[in-house]
Amino acid sequence: MLSEEKNKVLTQVGPGTPMGELLRRYWHPIGGASEFDQISVKPFRLLGEDLVIYKDLSGNFGMVDRQCAHRRADLSYGFVETHGIRCNYHGWSFDAAGRCVEQPFEDTVNPGNPQKERIRLKAYPVRELAGLLWAYMGPLPAPELPVYDAFTWGNGFREIVISDIPCNWMQCQENSCDPIHFEWMHDNWSTRLKGKTAPYAPKHLKVKFEEFDYGFLYKRIREGSSESNPYWTVGRVALWPNGFYLGPHFGWRVPIDDENSLSIAWFYMRVPKGREPYVQGSVPTWVSPIKDENGRWISSHVMNQDIVAWVGQGRIADRTKETLGVSDQGIAMIRKRFFDDIEAMKEGKDPKGVIRDPAIGRYVELPFEPKKPLIEGIRIEDYPKYPTINVRLSGFRHMVGQPPEVRQAFIKAMGISESGQFL
Ligand code: FES
Ligand SMILES: [Fe+2]
Repeated sequence: MLSEEKNKVLTQVGPGTPMGELLRRYWHPIGGASEFDQISVKPFRLLGEDLVIYKDLSGNFGMVDRQCAHRRADLSYGFVETHGIRCNYHGWSFDAAGRCVEQPFEDTVNPGNPQKERIRLKAYPVRELAGLLWAYMGPLPAPELPVYDAFTWGNGFREIVISDIPCNWMQCQENSCDPIHFEWMHDNWSTRLKGKTAPYAPKHLKVKFEEFDYGFLYKRIREGSSESNPYWTVGRVALWPNGFYLGPHFGWRVPIDDENSLSIAWFYMRVPKGREPYVQGSVPTWVSPIKDENGRWISSHVMNQDIVAWVGQGRIADRTKETLGVSDQGIAMIRKRFFDDIEAMKEGKDPKGVIRDPAIGRYVELPFEPKKPLIEGIRIEDYPKYPTINVRLSGFRHMVGQPPEVRQAFIKAMGISESGQFL
């Protein structure tokens, strides 16, 4: 349980709020670079600020204020130039740093006007990594954009799935350090959704949580497993500050504003041994819906089930009314780290996980077992030994609505039939 005041601190993300300032110390994924194969400008809201992301004619990405510095026209209707974006109202043009580089009429009648030098449009750096676009909205110099190990794995089919989530990001992130929900929300609820009443999944017997440099680890033992199981020896990662890492699968809960988040998930699937080299061109990005035609939340896919939990907690979960148990130690640890880091930042310190050393940032290894089959590939005949990988052959089970062309590209990369059998 938290006081109303602490719940506000934990959930407010706008400029000048304690958590908003903390979150501005990190790079955030904001979408897939391949979205800009079709468009060049899109409106985007991040941490309570209205912005536009664009890809200019040189292929460089930028993120600037949505409202033009002249008379506040909407730059999401602007158009891109060789360098930067131009407003569609009177043609003022801005570079990626937000400098006004052209005022067509003013430049004609008043060339050399010093006013132009002083015009600044709010602008934030954007980088591309692993097919994702990342933005940084904090004080400069920006820290390193971490290159996580999975981003460097080759010979894999990658895809990016995004969904608009109408609730605060923190309740989504708390789900990243919550092992018990696997048993109920994914295993047992799925059984009931299929119309069966049994059998229920193996019970959790023991959980523990540990902090490490880039997040928290949750570890678990369920009926029928032992302390030698990687779920206990290595655990799984709640990635700092707003993601999770499951080896070939990341998810981030990007704070749009206090009441909205963007779920961005990144998936990697190694092609079978013998099908190398496989080089993927552009990484496909697709949008997964979260509501069905009756306005109910979709529950058929694993991450959709999570989303049912997040949005069900309300636009901003009221933590003054919750009742935490032993299972929630990880959640208490995460909250405490955020509160402590907000205090540390007041003393000028970087919060947890911020990387300043390029030698560290260029390869950040995260814990996951087993990694070897993901990196080196699996022989076709050995797929049944890896059920969580094998199951992906027959269809995309994480989120609903994978476009047929993405499935087709996956089938081609993997060398399988429509039903997921090796050819
Ligand atoms: S409002 Fe943008 S150029 Fe005038
Ligand atoms: Fe889940």
